[in-house]
Amino acid sequence: MIEIRKAVIPAAGLGTRFLPTTKSIPKEMLPLADKPLIQHIIEEAVASGIKQIIVITSSAKIAIEEYFKRNLALESVLQEKGETELLEGVRRISTLANISFIRQDQPLGLGHAILATREIIGNEPFAVFLPDDIFDTDPPLIKQMINVYQRHKGSVIALRQVAKEDTVRYGIVKTDQVAERVYRILDMVEKPAPEEAPSNLAIMGRYILTPEIFEALIDTQPGTGGEIQLTDGLALLLKQQAIYGYAFDGTYYDAGKPLGFLKASVSLGLHHPGMGNELREHLRKLVGN
Ligand code: G1P
Repeated sequence: MIEIRKAVIPAAGLGTRFLPTTKSIPKEMLPLADKPLIQHIIEEAVASGIKQIIVITSSAKIAIEEYFKRNLALESVLQEKGETELLEGVRRISTLANISFIRQDQPLGLGHAILATREIIGNEPFAVFLPDDIFDTDPPLIKQMINVYQRHKGSVIALRQVAKEDTVRYGIVKTDQVAERVYRILDMVEKPAPEEAPSNLAIMGRYILTPEIFEALIDTQPGTGGEIQLTDGLALLLKQQAIYGYAFDGTYYDAGKPLGFLKASVSLGLHHPGMGNELREHLRKLVGN
């Protein structure tokens, strides 16, 4: 059985939906409950058995690279002050996984970003996590998708129904159902107008991809927004091999914009062992029972 050992996290985007905050702070570094968004994503990968993580950043996102490096000056201050718990928390960050960084300084699209990881991924299937998309599922969504990959032996894309008027925000698929929650993809198109959308099943930001995606991305021409789209690369790959969709059960948060981020924060906060009870009480007081 082929294991999924590597994951790619594209994090080079400008974060325009989160301006003005993202003018100077990468949105991936904003805290969701008690830690940065990107740490939640990395912990989701690690909890699903993934050991090596490639983060795609840009020169404007050095804060992400710094976060995962050791900070010896901070560690020695915490040590001197006897702040053992804080010290362990800070040290743990650099030991979460084997994390490396690739720079994508030109905004040429998600497909272009994925193609930049070709050498480091090599000839094996891998996971992709889009950090804007946060999922509350049990077990972690990517773990469920790895199971689908192992059963069906093809790339797997997370899917969710969206309102007809929202098709312009997502990749949209045409499908045939093959098992409970599992669909065979027949076609896909990036951000179609509602009247052109083949369905209202949208691609969500978790993927298991076979390495043949790289060849397909080399042949992919710029599409929506003049960018090399991963959806277009997958549509090419579809001509050679089967691709599956997995309609997960759970809640999705669009953490790439302030309201979605706030909702995800509240949800993660309510589940947090140290914060949950007090937050629940506070929300009750604010809105009534
Ligand atoms: C990307 C993908 C799109 C997918 C979406 C999920 O779009 O290109 O197919 O539906 O993520 O969040 P973006 O949100 O980067 O525009």
